Parts: sequence; C-alpha cells; structure tokens
Amino acid sequence: MPAISHLFFRAGILFLVVGIGLGLAMSISQNHDVIGAHAHINLLGWVTSAIFGGYYALNPAKSQGLLPRVHFWIYTSGVALMSVSLYLLLKGNTGMEPLVAIGSLLTAAGVLIAAYIFFMPAGVPARMQAAE
Ligand code: HEM
Repeated sequence: MPAISHLFFRAGILFLVVGIGLGLAMSISQNHDVIGAHAHINLLGWVTSAIFGGYYALNPAKSQGLLPRVHFWIYTSGVALMSVSLYLLLKGNTGMEPLVAIGSLLTAAGVLIAAYIFFMPAGVPARMQAAE
C-alpha cells in the first residue's frame, strides 16, 4: 500500500477513536450538545480519510509526487482544526468561530485538491516529479 494511504488510514483511525469517544460521552451523559462535532469528526475525519486512503491504494500511480502529500496535510490539518474548534464552539466558546471558518476552508481546499487529483490523468505527478 502506498505511504500516503497509510497516512490517511492512520489519521482516519485517530479521528474515529475521538469521534466514537464523543459519541459514547454524549450517550452516557444524555447530553447531545456536541452532535455536530461528533458527526463531522466521524464523517470527514474517518470516512472521508479512509476513502482517500483507499483511492490512493487502488491508484498507486496517483500516489506519487508532492501533490498527494499536500492533499493529505491540508485536508487533515483542516479537519483537525475544525474538529477541535467546532467542539469548543458547541461547548459555548463563541470566540472559536474564526478558527472553525479557517478549518472549514482548509478542509474544503483539501477536497478541491482531491477533485483535481481524481480528474488528472494517472502518471502526471510522476512526470512532474521527474521534470523537477
Ligand atoms: C460508539 C460509536 C458511536 C456512538 C456511541 C454514537 C453516538 C451518537 C449520538 C448519541 C448521537 C446523537 C443522536 C441525536 O441527538 O439525535 C449521534 C449522532 C450522529 N452520529 Fe454517532 N455515534 C457513534 C459512531 C458514529 C459513527 C462511526 C458515525 C459516522 C461514521 C456517526 C455519525 C453520526 C451522525 C451523522 C450523527 C447525527 C445524526 C442526526 O443528526 O440525525 N456516529 N451519534
């Protein structure tokens, strides 16, 4: 499996551990105030990261070069920032709003990079790397 797939799966499983932890905490406390953070950590952090990791594993030619690593770091840092700041916002820290916005925009930028990679012909990153 390409290294970038390992990175996405490792980040994803960490998000799942946190997301499920929040789900259990909500269930036990019967206080569902952080439902938005729970849903986004699980769906953006775990499900989407695992899909990206699976995509690179199925398309190893697309996993080469700098762009997949840029994709990983922008997407993952965006989801991490959004997760923490959204959790704190939902707990009443209204000052977190700008950080939620920055995290959301980074996450969206990561998704746009993924869209570019998905549509790009296989082998382009390898050729770009060779030209560097
Ligand atoms: C041990 C695992 C989990 C527990 C204990 C748990 C618990 C909860 C709880 C208590 C809620 C609030 C329900 C409500 O107020 O209506 C919730 C909502 C939600 N959970 Fe989880 N959850 C778990 C895993 C997951 C996973 C793995 C995902 C996604 C991959 C997920 C996605 C969602 C979503 C999208 C909602 C919002 C549903 C809605 O608004 O109707 N959960 N969960």
